[in-house]
Amino acid sequence: MAITVTPRHPALGAEIRGVDMRRPIDPETFKAVHDAWMKHLVVVFPDQPVSDQEHVAFTRHFGEPEIFHQTSLHLRSDRVKEIFLVSNVDENDRLMAPAEPSQKQLSSARQWHTDSSYRTMPSVGSLLHGIEISRTGGITQFINMYMVYDELPEGLRRQVEGRKARHDFGMLHRLVGNPPPTKEEAAAMPPAWHPMVRRHPVTGRKSLYVSSIYNDAVEGLDEAAARTLIEELSEFAAQPKYMYRHVWEPHDVLMWDNRCTVHAVTPHDPAERRVMHRTTIVGSESVVAG
Ligand SMILES: [Fe+2]
Repeated sequence: MAITVTPRHPALGAEIRGVDMRRPIDPETFKAVHDAWMKHLVVVFPDQPVSDQEHVAFTRHFGEPEIFHQTSLHLRSDRVKEIFLVSNVDENDRLMAPAEPSQKQLSSARQWHTDSSYRTMPSVGSLLHGIEISRTGGITQFINMYMVYDELPEGLRRQVEGRKARHDFGMLHRLVGNPPPTKEEAAAMPPAWHPMVRRHPVTGRKSLYVSSIYNDAVEGLDEAAARTLIEELSEFAAQPKYMYRHVWEPHDVLMWDNRCTVHAVTPHDPAERRVMHRTTIVGSESVVAG
């Protein structure tokens, strides 16, 4: 079956039909999907009621699935270790309150970020399966960071060219008050410095690479100036012309490129169940400066 690719927004985001994620894909289909992904940055596969095992198997076409390093909050599935739970319902079907540590940590996703940027070799992309979706919010918003880089005002451009920013998983604790990483978790995930302008290994294009939830330092700036710069960059980036807002339908699977996009989710009524399973594709190379 031939696949069809339909853009959903001029900046980024497209819908892919004609792929059954429950079955292995042939090299021709893989190429068509990969090309669409590189061109549109975020792609949605509607109507894909995959099991966690099928979700992981599909992810493996694109790289190795990450196994989340933090186990204390049970955001990593106890059933399928490659699954990260973006849910307010635990694996015993218990609705969790916003004040619970795991929910506090997940609330950081309301601010612009790219997944696993705190790793020495950050993630390539993520695949998120909407199992129970929100109707009161929970919209996942994406920004095309190639376009943002291309159109950065001169004053901001000068401040990011040739500069590195630090990405620290431990910053989540300072930001949203979830429990700090344990000694072991902190030792397993030391902060990483990455260029603020990066070159995409596949497309060769330059993009802005910053994260408002993990960047806790910028080369040559004190803490307050670093924070101000990251906030100014995020504010410039968050313009509708650079943004696709994904309104979920049940069993959408969304696949995005973590190297050239950032994302943030809108709040939803905490009494409403939201169950989403994510795989994260492990990076196999350092960030290359653009
Ligand atoms: Fe995320």
